[in-house]
Amino acid sequence: MSDRIPEEMVEEIRKKTDIVDVISDYVQLKKQGRNYFGLCPFHGENSPSFSVSPEKQIFHCFGCGAGGNVYSFLMDHDGVSFKEAVAVAGSKIGMDISLQQDETPNEKDGNTKQLYKDQQDAHELLAKFYHHLLMNTEEGQHALEYMLQRGFTEEQLKQFRIGWALPSWDFTSELLKKRGFDLSSMEQAGLIIKRDNGSYFDRFRERIMFPVENDRGQIVAFSGRIINSDKKDEPKYLNSPETPLFQKNKILFNYHRARGAIRREQSVVLFEGFADVISSNEWTANGIATMGTSLTVQHIGLIKRLTGQVIICYDGDKAGYEAAFKAARELASSGLKVKVALLPNGMDPDDYIQKKGGQAFKQEIIDSSVSEMAFKMHYFRSKNNLSSEDGRLTYIKSVLKEIASLKEAIDKEFYIKQLSDEFNLSIEGLSQQMLSLMPQEQTEKEVQQPKPSGVFQRKSTLLPAYLTAERHLIAHMMANEDTAYTVQNLLSGKMMNKDEHQAIFTYLLAYYEKGHHSDAGAFVHMLPDRHLRAIATEINMMDVNPEVGSDELNDYVAEVLKYQKLLKIKEKQVEEKEAERKNDFRKAAEIGMEIIQLRKALKR
Ligand code: CTP
Ligand code: MN
Repeated sequence: MSDRIPEEMVEEIRKKTDIVDVISDYVQLKKQGRNYFGLCPFHGENSPSFSVSPEKQIFHCFGCGAGGNVYSFLMDHDGVSFKEAVAVAGSKIGMDISLQQDETPNEKDGNTKQLYKDQQDAHELLAKFYHHLLMNTEEGQHALEYMLQRGFTEEQLKQFRIGWALPSWDFTSELLKKRGFDLSSMEQAGLIIKRDNGSYFDRFRERIMFPVENDRGQIVAFSGRIINSDKKDEPKYLNSPETPLFQKNKILFNYHRARGAIRREQSVVLFEGFADVISSNEWTANGIATMGTSLTVQHIGLIKRLTGQVIICYDGDKAGYEAAFKAARELASSGLKVKVALLPNGMDPDDYIQKKGGQAFKQEIIDSSVSEMAFKMHYFRSKNNLSSEDGRLTYIKSVLKEIASLKEAIDKEFYIKQLSDEFNLSIEGLSQQMLSLMPQEQTEKEVQQPKPSGVFQRKSTLLPAYLTAERHLIAHMMANEDTAYTVQNLLSGKMMNKDEHQAIFTYLLAYYEKGHHSDAGAFVHMLPDRHLRAIATEINMMDVNPEVGSDELNDYVAEVLKYQKLLKIKEKQVEEKEAERKNDFRKAAEIGMEIIQLRKALKR
């Protein structure tokens, strides 16, 4: 065993770090009462059951049971040793712990670690050389001119450490050899290629070199762009192959650098090409791109750690449209809110910026992105001829199918109404048709439990916030009778949104008023209806703190009421549109004012 980090130091770092701070680097956390909540990074989920307590400095996931302190989090999440976890936490508060004398649990692990470290170092070294060649040498001058003439600035070239690989077969391999790197390890890293006779040659020759960093900002690969236009048979971009350090399905270009901006903006902009990321970076610092592959579940997981909203900004051509449609579906189905930024025909983001400037790009393209549904309608419109009856029918069916897949009942209603307005079709007919287009399992649930208002209610693990809030309120009310009365006061006559919740709520208050004391088990048994008993039991399983703070209760109640206000706003919006359609602009303006008031009330 090598030197241990002194116990006092481990303690000191643990006391000085804030677990919320540390975990925020990986998980998007929202404060709710005394604790923070987010999507658990240890198991796939769509509603936040991962909680972090700033008071206790621990985390816990109600979904998968993961839990512990700041060190356990780092160890589990990054797969690092205890020592490394202490070092990572230490570095966050400016206490540097040298891991030079690293523990070597077994020989092989130690070797592999050293191998990866060498490969890492080689990338850093080469990036420095390539960058120097581009910026400061005669050999790199025409490449530099190409980049500048394309509109990249020197700052951008420096910031992204862009470089130039010489038109040589052995510049890189010789350099690596001279610096003492093991060439077979360099081959594994994808930097050089072995000939049949055992000698090596450079993979990247005569190309602009774009370093690709992992989520810690370490260079793990390169992408090289050709500039010599007579090399038509070679690919425009040549990427490092798949290596232990570089797995394309897990790497997002600029992820590390964009992290802070993504959190601040509460959204990420997803581009098709990394050239787009670079040229837009000054105006949209929250931009990332895949490395020439389509979006994978791992990519989506990386995005979800940081934000719940994605703005897709793909090229303005047919391929870009198709790719955006596919990406939108995948992102949305994993619970992300999706918007799409549309570019004029034939342009990619970089073209647009060069032509109109970054400011215009930000305002006209990114800030003007449309909702997922609006994009899909646009997409289907472009594929169907709406002046023919056939085209219209296909269009309506395609859109209905998309509506069917929406999670929120309120959104379904909204778009059905829109279709009904647009094509003068009855809401009932469209709703019927939509039901027939829903996935089997979902349909059964929705048909079984229609809400009186006709709102489609979906029962699943992906509970919307207001339902989660109602469940928490009931759980707390069952655990403590004082809390029950507090909640009754806070709701002041307003109802819970889910009928069953309202029923349990009423029974529970009656139960206490009869003089019973809190005993969730007993209460559940006296419920007259099996269905209610099942729901109450499920809620009772939730492990809540009986000493709940009033902040937390207030937050839950606010969530319950917010849904009702949102419903009201959507209703008003439909009325407003109706008035506009009838050219009753005075009425439309009045309703508009009401909507503004409702929105304000929502913020309070
Ligand atoms: N790509 C690739 N290999 C290629 C071509 C493209 O891996 N032979 C990937 C790259 O990751 C690139 C993305 O696909 O960033 C988008 O390609 P494209 O739209 O052709 O590139 P641009 O971003 O427009 O690059 P440029 O402006 O330099 O032409
Ligand atoms: Mn381009």
